[in-house]
Amino acid sequence: MTASHSPKPTVTIRRAQGTADVAQCLKLRAIVFGDEQGIPLAYRHDDIDQTCHHLLAYATLPADSTTDIAPESKPALAPKDVPAGTLRFHELQPGLGNIAWVTVLPQFRSLGIGRLLMQAAHQVIANELMWSKVLLYAQCDKTGFYTRLGYTIPAENTVYLKEGNPHINMELTLADARISG
Ligand SMILES: CC(C)(COP(=O)(O)OP(=O)(O)OC[C@H]1O[C@@H](n2cnc3c(N)ncnc32)[C@H](O)[C@@H]1OP(=O)(O)O)[C@@H](O)C(=O)NCCC(=O)NCCS
Repeated sequence: MTASHSPKPTVTIRRAQGTADVAQCLKLRAIVFGDEQGIPLAYRHDDIDQTCHHLLAYATLPADSTTDIAPESKPALAPKDVPAGTLRFHELQPGLGNIAWVTVLPQFRSLGIGRLLMQAAHQVIANELMWSKVLLYAQCDKTGFYTRLGYTIPAENTVYLKEGNPHINMELTLADARISG
């Protein structure tokens, strides 16, 4: 059976709750940062993962989106939710958050899921945690993604290597812009 079309999925973002959800986040991170980017496990997991805030994005796929079976012979299947992306955030110092490991599976990219994840994180950070600023360590070829969300590169910052990948710090001030839900 072949995919006849690829309709845009509905996306739901939710907070990771408990160890099973965190394990799901780490699994997505492993696919993208491990398998795709080759970043070693020891670098991808650290001891703050168990205390960080994590978000999970689920894509709701129509049950018939991957089949070309004749309509009359299709079983009545429910739409299914599949994990599509994740990120984590924690407080670096009072009022200063860090968002990291922003992950969207390759098959779900360019659908706005990364933006939705970031906006959901900003809502929690600004409205619930009341942190005023976010600092993140951007891969240099991803700065456009963050720029579109309002991030800027502080003037004094320069490119540095993390695990051999060029990175640069970017920041966003949330204090004067409470985010609506
Ligand atoms: C970076 C990543 C999270 C983006 O997720 P995504 O769901 O594909 O992004 P979106 O569809 O939400 O894109 C939002 C906007 O950012 C832009 N964008 C996405 N990736 C971009 C990139 N690498 N460079 C510049 N712009 C980018 C999109 O074109 C879109 O622009 P628009 O608002 O003008 O339409 C995803 O590509 C990914 O998981 N990459 C691998 C992991 C990674 O490197 N994470 C970041 C580490 S710093």
